[in-house]
Parts: sequence; C-alpha cells; structure tokens
Amino acid sequence: SAHQWQAPSPTDSRGPCPGLNTLANHGFLPRNGSNITIPVVLKAINDGFNFQPINLLRIGAKLGLLTTDAEDSFTLNNLALHGTLEHDASLSRNDYALGDNVHFNETVFTTLANSNPGVDYYNITSAAQVMEQRLAEDKIVNPTLINTIKEFTVRIVESGFYLSVMGNVTTGVAPKNFVQIFFREERLPLEEGWERSEVPIGEDNFDTLLSEISNVTTWAPSGEVICPWIRLQP
Ligand code: HEM
Ligand code: MG
Repeated sequence: SAHQWQAPSPTDSRGPCPGLNTLANHGFLPRNGSNITIPVVLKAINDGFNFQPINLLRIGAKLGLLTTDAEDSFTLNNLALHGTLEHDASLSRNDYALGDNVHFNETVFTTLANSNPGVDYYNITSAAQVMEQRLAEDKIVNPTLINTIKEFTVRIVESGFYLSVMGNVTTGVAPKNFVQIFFREERLPLEEGWERSEVPIGEDNFDTLLSEISNVTTWAPSGEVICPWIRLQP
C-alpha cells in the first residue's frame, strides 16, 4: 500500500533525522527524500504521527531551509549541515568532528538502547539520563564539542519526539522495542503493535513533556563556543 515501509534506494536522500527518514521510508514524505517544502513536511508529520503543525515544528522546518541554497525546499541529507539543526551529542549518530554525523551508529545508540534497565520501556527519567550520558561521553572524545543552550534545547525536543511519537505524549513512556526499531530500521513498528498516537500531539501536551524532561536533567553549557550559534547557509 501507499504507506508500506520500503528501504531507501541508493539514490534516495536520507539524513540525520530518524523521524523524517522514517516518514520517507513509509511514503508520507517523498520516498526520494527530496523537494521537501514546509507544508509537505508538516503534513507528513501530522499524517504519520498525529503531530499537529505547531510553531515548534514550523520553526524546525524553516531552519531546514537554511541548510540549502534552494529557495523553498530541502532534501533530507541537506539537514546534516553542522550547526544549523545538526548538533553534537546525538542519540544515534556520531559527532561531526568524529566522522559520520548522518548515518545510524549502533555504538553511539548503545547508551539509549541500554538505558532504563530491568523494564521494557523508556521514560522521562531515562531519556534525561541518556542525554547527560551522551554529553559526558562526547566531552571525553570530542575536543570541538559544541554544547550551548541552543543544542540543549534541540536535544530536549528530540527526546520528546521519540517518547511521544513511539510512546505516549501524556505519560512520556515509550516501549523499548518500538523506539529501537524506529532508530535502527527507520520503520514504524506496526507489525509489533505500534499505533499512531490516538491523542493529537500538540502545543500543550508536548510542551509539558519537554518541561518534564528538562526538569530532571542537570545541564550546563561547556566548551569553547559559549554563544548559541546558527549557520545561516551552506
Ligand atoms: C534529529 C530535523 C522533525 C525525531 C534531527 C536532526 C535534524 C532533524 C537535522 C539531527 C540532529 C542531531 O542529532 O544532530 C528535523 C526537522 C523536522 C524534524 C527539520 C521537522 C520540522 C522530527 C519529528 C520527529 C523527529 C516529527 C519525530 C519522531 C528526531 C529524533 C532526533 C532527530 C529522535 C534525534 C536523533 C539523534 O539524536 O540521533 N531532526 N526533524 N524529528 N529528529 Fe528530527
Ligand atoms: Mg548530530
């Protein structure tokens, strides 16, 4: 059917966002990963995840346009431009300075995969701990690590994304196997029992989730770059 999972072909564009890659693998976004406009991406996120076109997503999509010289669309691979949206201490990709900031990396993902031991779900507390641990790991290996309030804010949002889209936006609880399939295979775990959120993910419930994650982390900026920065073009 139209939204069956299909692995990308070698010429299809994919990038550092497991959420958008997944939407492309299921045909909610163009399967070739190209010509993505703001309305196209907002509709795909709503159709695939029941995530409403809230301001936060609109801003994210607009920042996506800054990663290319094209005037009104981007490709999934454009999003890898380091310093616009792409940042260090990702959950499933290596730091830009360490090599490959685009493709899924099982070694990097180990921290999240092994979090919340003893139970079969991730939650707000485990997500916050994973964020702290990824940062601690990168402080050891990446002397160019960038960790300002901007990267922290984006990372909180991304933790909120996997908890809400693969789990429950109200409780912040997400089954481990759903989250792992999402990251590793960039596939909606439909056969495994995942269902698109019944509750629309929107401004109120998502903001609450983000505050809850941020309330249980102790974060501080570090590194040479102290002023939040953003690359305005490639
Ligand atoms: C990461 C772009 C929406 C899930 C990223 C990254 C980019 C990006 C550039 C890489 C950041 C990094 O880790 O260095 C976008 C844009 C979006 C969007 C432009 C739409 C406006 C979504 C949605 C989801 C999602 C709706 C829902 C599941 C994630 C997750 C990460 C991520 C979980 C973290 C990956 C990691 O840390 O390894 N996104 N994204 N994104 N995105 Fe998206
Ligand atoms: Mg990254």
